[in-house]
Amino acid sequence: MDHFDVRGGVMHAEDVPLPAIADAVGTPFYCYSAATLRRHAHVMQAALSALDGPLIAFAVKANPNIAVLKLLAREGLGADVVSEGEMRRALKAGVNRQKIVFSGVGKTDGEMRAALEAGILQLNVESEGELRRLSAIAVSLGTTADIAIRVNPDVDAGTLAKISTGKAENKFGVPLDRVEALYAEAAVMPGIRPVGIAAHIGSQLFDLAPLEAAYTKLGALVGRLRAAGLPVERVDLGGGLGIPYDPKLPLPPSPADYGAMVARVTAGWNVRLMFEPGRLIAGNAGILVSAVVAVKTGATRTFLVLDAAMNDLIRPTLYGVYHDIRAVQPRAGTMVATIVGPVCETGDMFAEDRPITPVDEGDLVALMTAGAYGATMAGTYNSRPLVPEVLVDGDRFAVIRARQTLDELLGLDRVPGWLDD
Ligand code: LLP
Repeated sequence: MDHFDVRGGVMHAEDVPLPAIADAVGTPFYCYSAATLRRHAHVMQAALSALDGPLIAFAVKANPNIAVLKLLAREGLGADVVSEGEMRRALKAGVNRQKIVFSGVGKTDGEMRAALEAGILQLNVESEGELRRLSAIAVSLGTTADIAIRVNPDVDAGTLAKISTGKAENKFGVPLDRVEALYAEAAVMPGIRPVGIAAHIGSQLFDLAPLEAAYTKLGALVGRLRAAGLPVERVDLGGGLGIPYDPKLPLPPSPADYGAMVARVTAGWNVRLMFEPGRLIAGNAGILVSAVVAVKTGATRTFLVLDAAMNDLIRPTLYGVYHDIRAVQPRAGTMVATIVGPVCETGDMFAEDRPITPVDEGDLVALMTAGAYGATMAGTYNSRPLVPEVLVDGDRFAVIRARQTLDELLGLDRVPGWLDD
């Protein structure tokens, strides 16, 4: 569900026609709907309302814009962060520090120190070495780190290999059979207080069964830890719920189905549950709006060359995944086009042989479901500046990240004096 609809022949973001934004900020631009973000936060809260005081920590990696984080914080969400940069964004957005969880497979000493100094809720520890380093840092700061051990439950999430994280061969988490020993060690380590366990098995999941399998393993682990006299107060169940990208495909499980499964599987655990949804909150709340630079008749197919490219939205190139692409002012009829960007790579392709309502040079198109893992994964390949982000709220809109200028982009380079000799 989103708030990008065609009204009077023109696609709007809530009450704002997209061409009005294009006139104001140029193209390409990311556009987010505040109403959709709020709605998704509420849907998730409602889905988990049977649980006792769950924490929903938005996975900042999905959309780290500070305005987006602030909007979600105002709806009561916390933040799941994986770097000092993400943590600083969350803090700057006003996310309650006691709702911030620091995940990530390679936390540096500097990041762990910053997390402890900021006084966030917990760090999800991913290895024995990390636990020892954290202990030393906590002791040096005269504080205690509340930690959860991230478990690798060895479950196949049934999603793309590149975004699966819970199989034994993946780099994430501590192998299930080593968690009890590590937790016991953590319980006696100076500066460390183990508060629970965490897992995240993958992203864009279309099946609840692997999640249920993983959670069932976590439940058994909670029982074993307690039997060993180790206290367990919290379990972080991660994110990963899939969202619809292709309107032709069956829908993924609903948040309500997910919530019902969680309530059933975790009944009697007697812990505070935590969740880290990213895509579910932000994915369908954003689009990438781009202008058609050229309609090019190739030898075998017609190309729509956009002014957006793989550096702006890399998901189709990186994962070969589908994003719906719609004309902002749709005309009657259909054309079949291969929709590409101007970057000098054959893989700079958003869609291959895609039916779309007819478009001409200068027309606007919207790449849908780009609110998660869109702008945040952008780069500047081909010396293309980062594009702006716009937030629409009812009939208002604001630029929430300015377009990077070429001067800013080029100004980072330094030419050593000896090249001038
Ligand atoms: N928690 C942890 C520890 C994670 O690693 C992730 C995502 C999440 C939560 C949020 O997962 P979500 O609810 O958004 O599925 N770039 C890829 C997705 C990578 C996800 C990485 N981790 C894509 O564009 O599909």
